Amino acid sequence: MAKNFGILTSGGDCPGLNAAIRGVGKAGQDLYGMHFIGFRDGFRGLVQDRTMELDGDLLSGILTDGGTILGTSRDKPHRMPIGGKILDMTDAIVDTYKRHHLDALVCLGGGGTQKNALRLKEAGMEIITLPKTIDNDVWGTDVTFGFDTAMAIATEAIDRLHSTATSHHRVIVVEIMGHRAGWLALGAGIAGGADVILLPEIPYDVNLIVAAIRNRHSQGKRFSIVAVAEGAMSVEAARRIDKLSAAKEGAKTKAARKETTAELDAFYKAHVDHTLQLTHQLEAKTGQEARLTILGHLQRGGTPSCADRLLATRLGTACAELLNAGKYGGMLAVRGSKLELIPLEDVAGRKKLVPTDHSWIEAARAVGTCLGDR
Ligand code: F6P
Repeated sequence: MAKNFGILTSGGDCPGLNAAIRGVGKAGQDLYGMHFIGFRDGFRGLVQDRTMELDGDLLSGILTDGGTILGTSRDKPHRMPIGGKILDMTDAIVDTYKRHHLDALVCLGGGGTQKNALRLKEAGMEIITLPKTIDNDVWGTDVTFGFDTAMAIATEAIDRLHSTATSHHRVIVVEIMGHRAGWLALGAGIAGGADVILLPEIPYDVNLIVAAIRNRHSQGKRFSIVAVAEGAMSVEAARRIDKLSAAKEGAKTKAARKETTAELDAFYKAHVDHTLQLTHQLEAKTGQEARLTILGHLQRGGTPSCADRLLATRLGTACAELLNAGKYGGMLAVRGSKLELIPLEDVAGRKKLVPTDHSWIEAARAVGTCLGDR
């Protein structure tokens, strides 16, 4: 009898998801005679048993399409909003899994998905995950698919901002996604030749950025491009977050933990317009006109780059091979030129941030880019 597998995409969408679905599905069907059903809209589709048959027709012609044919959501199995309440739907998911007689479930997702997949593994399901996200922050893999495309989009934006910044002699601040990691802003900032790059991993001193812009001005360079990761923060904000995080970790009671968690969440919520505040500060302190561009979801849309199509196809087809061998329980990670199945227990709850001694940081400094700390 043909083996039976489920596939879903979870978390924010990204370019390359369809290429990965196609890779798993085509290799699985053509090489191993497997049967696949897709669950719609992430883990919610598993709860509600909303499916689509992933047959040859559906898998054709999607390699270059952005988004995900399955739909996605940020729903978590153990905390799902249902009928105005937040419910643990793990049992309902396990029921759907059993009702379809699945041999395993393939989850395409980022950091949150790894945690959710581990919960389902602990509930007795066989799982394999593939690492996707434009943020490139999934622990244990060299790279995630979606990142290359988003970095290229942000780089093109910086290129375009250069000409208008030069013409108007302005400071242009450009906010780049990446959640709490700086990979996207750093990569696009270097490739686009940004004059200042600000990352969550290196808290900034606004006066040092002002000094760098003034220094450029004194050399006759009357414009500056400041690439800011959405998670970047000033030294003061970083200190506050450290304090709140330490209080959360050290909380002795459930109530105290709840209170400090709420404070931390409120701080992050208020931090959301920090690039606008930074833009105002730079205008006031440098005396130069400043403008802000927020790239936002533009970076997640559209057709995947060739590197992402290639990576997603490699991961998808290697996943089919593992499914055939009955090897489950982990995330398929990129390690150098190889793909390796690493335990979900190792990945879940961890984030891959930019190490402050990373070669990209050294390269940025070596070409005179200000990172807001020196
Ligand atoms: O994780 C991908 C990402 O695009 C982050 O860079 C960003 O912080 C977040 O998702 C935005 O989430 P949403 O699409 O839910 O607004």
